[in-house]
Amino acid sequence: MKKVFLIIAAVFQLTLSAQQPQAISIIANKPVCDIQPTMWGVFFEDINFAADGGIYAELVKNRSFEFTLPMMGWEQVRQNGDGRVVPTFYSPANSNNPHYVRVHVNAENGAFGLSNSGFRGMGIKDGNLYKFSVNAKMSEGSDLKMKVEILDSAGSLIGTTQPITFTTSWKKYQASIQASSTDAKAKLRILFSGKGAADIDMVSLFPADTWKGRPGGMRKDIVQMIADLKPGFVRFPGGCIVEGRTLENRYQWKTTVGPVEERKLIINRWNMEMRNRQAPDYFQSFGLGFFEYFQLAEDMGAEPLPILNCGMSCQFNAGEVVPLADLQPYIQDALDLIEFANGATTSVWGKVRASMGHPEPFNLKYIGVGNEQWEEQYIERYILFEKALMAKHPEIKIVSGSGPSASGAYFDYAWGELRKLNPSLIDEHYYMAPEWFLKNAERYDNYDRKGIRIFAGEYAAHGREGSAPESRNSWLSALTEAAFMTGLERNADVVNMASYAPLLAHVDAWQWRPDLIWFDNLKTIGTPNYYVQKMFSTHRGTQVIPALSAGKPLTGTDSLYASAVIDKSDSKIYIKIVNASGSAKSVLLNLEGASFSKTGEIETLKAKGLYEFNSVSNPENIIPVSKPLSVPGKKLTVSLDPSSVNVITIPLRK
Ligand code: AHR
Repeated sequence: MKKVFLIIAAVFQLTLSAQQPQAISIIANKPVCDIQPTMWGVFFEDINFAADGGIYAELVKNRSFEFTLPMMGWEQVRQNGDGRVVPTFYSPANSNNPHYVRVHVNAENGAFGLSNSGFRGMGIKDGNLYKFSVNAKMSEGSDLKMKVEILDSAGSLIGTTQPITFTTSWKKYQASIQASSTDAKAKLRILFSGKGAADIDMVSLFPADTWKGRPGGMRKDIVQMIADLKPGFVRFPGGCIVEGRTLENRYQWKTTVGPVEERKLIINRWNMEMRNRQAPDYFQSFGLGFFEYFQLAEDMGAEPLPILNCGMSCQFNAGEVVPLADLQPYIQDALDLIEFANGATTSVWGKVRASMGHPEPFNLKYIGVGNEQWEEQYIERYILFEKALMAKHPEIKIVSGSGPSASGAYFDYAWGELRKLNPSLIDEHYYMAPEWFLKNAERYDNYDRKGIRIFAGEYAAHGREGSAPESRNSWLSALTEAAFMTGLERNADVVNMASYAPLLAHVDAWQWRPDLIWFDNLKTIGTPNYYVQKMFSTHRGTQVIPALSAGKPLTGTDSLYASAVIDKSDSKIYIKIVNASGSAKSVLLNLEGASFSKTGEIETLKAKGLYEFNSVSNPENIIPVSKPLSVPGKKLTVSLDPSSVNVITIPLRK
């Protein structure tokens, strides 16, 4: 009898506590620590066709015929005419752009030419203007005219130029094409009529309407999506792409600056990395190079964070290592990069920056040495970089790596050694299951408050996936990341930078998922994970304030996770609460330490199910919704939807 009573009492107690709202004290006048403006940023790597075929708005694939197979992406076209195409080397040699093609034409009553398929097609928009250009010359004795056309995916003409005639010396020809229809998989066609031979190189088609209207610039919709995050920093260019599968294939920033036609194309390491997602046509033209990365960061008010190769190729691949005695050129690259970004216009590299249109310095403050390297080989090289950087540029903060995982032997070794050195930040990476993110929301609670700061440089919850590319960006992954991010925010004294990874993916050309933003040739969409990032980054605040339940951080009790910040510049507090349970919850907010406005706002992100996702065809399945929130007094009960991420904004009164 006694036992039955005890069970009933326990059930009653449970029911009671389930019904009782979780009390959270928000103490506005007890700031815990500052939040760095760099807290929430983005990590850009050219993976998933993020650069060529993505943010870099060039529509022609293999425009300079430098792919391993020089005619990849191109097809011959015959219209009552004939001809042949011969890939040819410049003489004298042009080492950065060795090839052009010679088009022999026999088409006095028709046409012969080439078509380019673009990056899984070309995205063309009705009414928009497209800028065509080509470097070309005609052989002596030739009589040729060229016409350029845009065709839709059915092969119908949707834009054309006037006939273009050539001279016998190399010259850049330009023309505009107005599109009369929209198509995500259009093609470019170049037709020659007459008789003779034409040499062509750098065949290019760009939308006129690029980000900030820059000729040869970036895709506006994708950049806007990133800019909307108001990122505090941009980490670039990788990632594993920095390392290369071999050292020869590593990212070398010096080959990515200067005139576009002089930038040396290389194979993209993601071309053949993924056995089931091979992309033989994936190369790096470097139309998006280091200048453009710096400019992009500047456009968005973000700190640039370049990551440099430290004399090691990817240890998951060839694992090549530059002998310590030969490391100087790699270190010099780092020193020269600082000069490129910040140096006077009279310096060698500052002059290059100025010649590209940016005499003012980019104000570089951070530099990353290596990506996911491990063991002694990394530390030995890191030490030499650190010594040289600190000697010449003590003003630059060095970001070191801690290997490819968030725990284990490599991680512990790296931390043990780096503690004896002077990096300003250590980069930690975690691609883990959603449950890991819930369990690790307290990860940084016990980190040394006076130790090296953390850059959570690459993270994403990896869970269940379906056949749709975007399906791995499930609501569950976003929800659990949000719970984890309350822990990052609460520990902003330790965690100074954080970025989801990877940033971008083309739905028809991806190698890695999940990713923050998906796009096709016309559209760009945010994943639920994107909206989580945005909710945190656009409510960053300037200082962390306590969000305590029974005197402790609320981090998992009753499946609730909370953090709070104050924004001194706009006099508001932002409270983030994640309800990771499948049932609705109430919380009782005890607002202390300030006078609060009577009206606030609650922004909620939720989904119909844990495996729901946003797709290019259904981009708004999961998007944040804001509602006014009445704040009658210092005690405020807020209902939280099941499995929801919530940001409560309450203005302060003077
Ligand atoms: O983000 C994709 C890859 O994951 C990065 O290139 C690398 O740093 C990590 O292993």
